[in-house]
Amino acid sequence: MNDIQNQDDLYLLVDEFYKKLLSDESISYIFTDVVKIKLEEHLPILVTFWSQAILGTGGYTNNLTQIHLDVNAKSYLSPELFKIWLNHFYNTVDENFKGQKAEQIKTQALSIGTIMQIKIAQQQGDKL
Ligand code: HEM
Repeated sequence: MNDIQNQDDLYLLVDEFYKKLLSDESISYIFTDVVKIKLEEHLPILVTFWSQAILGTGGYTNNLTQIHLDVNAKSYLSPELFKIWLNHFYNTVDENFKGQKAEQIKTQALSIGTIMQIKIAQQQGDKL
């Protein structure tokens, strides 16, 4: 098994990852009902994001945490949902890639997910 080496690898990764997310009804409603994502537009954005994060290319300029706070304002992104998201992400990486970048992308997903959850907890607290 190879490591993640280029944007084609990242495209395969996010494509397989979203197949898992969208076929798991405990989380798919966020992508189909709460926000109606268009996969053909969404997947290239994910590739740009991860390419910047682990391949060192540029190009991603959106505020990722704010985007997820906006989703959370519509439908609560619970710690349980983050666990499900991360599990599917880890499994997709491990089923397709092995190596330093594969480890790095999992670690990054966990740290970004942790920061998002802290901000979400703050946002939930502000509502009380
Ligand atoms: C419970 C966990 C999560 C859920 C349910 C979720 C859901 C979503 C949804 C619905 C969107 C589309 C938002 C929109 O276009 O308005 C989105 C965008 C995105 N998500 Fe997540 N997300 C989760 C966690 C994460 C994590 C941990 C990461 C990264 C480590 C991540 C990376 C991204 C990226 C890169 C985008 C594209 C943002 C853009 O359009 O610039 N997500 N997510």
